[in-house]
Amino acid sequence: MELSDIVKAAFEEAYPGEDFGGVRVLPATDPKFGDYQCNDALKFAKKAHANPREVGAKVAEALKGNDVFEKVEIAGPGFLNLTVSGGWLNSRLSTLDSKPSCGIPQKGAGKKIVIDYSSPNAAKQMHIGHIRSTVIGCAIDRIFRSLGYDVIADNHLGDWGTQFGILIKGYRELLTDEERENLTVANLEKCYVLSAAKAKEEDGVWKDACRAELVKLQQGDKDNLALWKRFIDISIGEFDRMYAKLGVKFDTYRGESYYNDTMPGVVAKLQEMGLAVESEGALVVNLEAEKLGVAIVRKSDGGYNYTTSDLACVKTRVEEYDPERIIYVTDARQQLHFKQWFSIAAKMGYTTKLVHVPFGLMSYQGKAISTREGNLIKLDELLAEAKRRALAIVQDRAASMGKGAGMPYPPRASEPEGATRRGESPSVPADETLAEQIGYGAVKYSDLSHDPITDIDFSWDKALALEGNSGPYLQYAYARVCSLLEKASGGTDGGSGAPEPLPVDGSFLVATPAEKRLALQLLEFPGAVVRAAEAYKPSVLADYLFQTAQLYSSFYQSSPILKSEPTVRAARLKLCSLFGKVLSTGLGLLGIDTPRHI
Ligand code: ARG
Repeated sequence: MELSDIVKAAFEEAYPGEDFGGVRVLPATDPKFGDYQCNDALKFAKKAHANPREVGAKVAEALKGNDVFEKVEIAGPGFLNLTVSGGWLNSRLSTLDSKPSCGIPQKGAGKKIVIDYSSPNAAKQMHIGHIRSTVIGCAIDRIFRSLGYDVIADNHLGDWGTQFGILIKGYRELLTDEERENLTVANLEKCYVLSAAKAKEEDGVWKDACRAELVKLQQGDKDNLALWKRFIDISIGEFDRMYAKLGVKFDTYRGESYYNDTMPGVVAKLQEMGLAVESEGALVVNLEAEKLGVAIVRKSDGGYNYTTSDLACVKTRVEEYDPERIIYVTDARQQLHFKQWFSIAAKMGYTTKLVHVPFGLMSYQGKAISTREGNLIKLDELLAEAKRRALAIVQDRAASMGKGAGMPYPPRASEPEGATRRGESPSVPADETLAEQIGYGAVKYSDLSHDPITDIDFSWDKALALEGNSGPYLQYAYARVCSLLEKASGGTDGGSGAPEPLPVDGSFLVATPAEKRLALQLLEFPGAVVRAAEAYKPSVLADYLFQTAQLYSSFYQSSPILKSEPTVRAARLKLCSLFGKVLSTGLGLLGIDTPRHI
């Protein structure tokens, strides 16, 4: 039974007939006050006009004899400070240890959701600005899947619009035969820049020609459609190359064009419902009453826009999947757009929960990212740089270890236990793979460790720091615990390369304060995953993992393991193994690999 349920039952026993549905037990804010606390005696006392300390005393009385708690104290105006018994803690640890995915509750079983993320515009290379939507979206996707949701990850590509007239004209007249034959996204990007520049010429001839190509495309001209299709296929091929590096997978790639045929009907319905009205030749929905301004749903030239396409898209998703909710991950500058069309969708009668997860701006090494600054780094280059830098670290470390230096993690006064030299095990990944795991992991974690809404600065030093709140720090912590467990079992992992640390025989036996703090923290893992999902913030999970690694480090430094007597040794190793499992499961949800050997 959950602690909250146990304490709730005590409230019910003390005050029969009252409703205690909201009673919650939370981790103590300070270990001085015990392990957990409950503030509901105060709340109830207020409602019942009773003395809160008396309420607390009655509940404490009802909890007496319960072997879950070793101590129940009433503090201040009626807080309940709860200290759990060793027996309860040990049995909870072993339950967690035996559960698949470290006990993540399957809250989403039978529920479908759509997540719309990454969604770059076609015919352009992905750049540093695309990291956030991709990485945050992917983590939210993984977190929801882990909770048992049936997730449809959709890449809502920007694959339609005026740029295709410019591209088609440019492709036919500005690219060389060779460029046309070996068409790449880089060539398309170049073609767009050249053609767009010509479209600015004063006589307007090129611009009109581009426009004519666009109209032909929109009317279904076979040649133009075939070219457009080719541009999209090439773009998706290139995006997929990035996604493969980042471990991102989509179920569908439905770009804006997918909804072309649905848009007229949506606009007609808006008119029918009296929601959309003519204004200066355009068709608009007035949202002034909600202080959301006016949203155009059909431009004065008869064309549709981003709002129309998102309304058509929600109609399609609801009809096809009937999802419980749809999550959109885009930069915060699109907040008004989402507020506007969420409001229109509600007026149209859509009841599906629509969630916008906005994220802040990213700067690079202290400078704003902009084309003019010349630091609009291609995602491909950024990842290559991450790999290069990680490789240097890996090789540096291998060289220094060869000279007999200690491992950098965790800092420890005495000789570290369980240090395995690189190359000892046949499952040591090649340096290249390792450099990708560390480099890409560092890039992802540097983003995911921040609340999405905050503006962040990407710094190589911070991202790749071996100490502090970084991806590599957590990956080292994991490799380190694997190596300790291998040493304890008298060898390596046998080359199995299994993603999980070795299981350990024996029983949990929490005794010291450092063990207890780590144990209590490990029990919070399922809750941290739930909180991260509820808040749409992978950072909640990242914070949890970092704190857990710090508690592990304190435990590790204060508690001899391999040299302890057998029961203590086994119990501590079990705690290490559970820590390893939690860490690798958690990092996996953030899309970060956990190599066993570094
Ligand atoms: N393509 C858009 C962009 O680059 C993002 C699309 C987000 N998804 C959506 N359904 N509006 O900003």
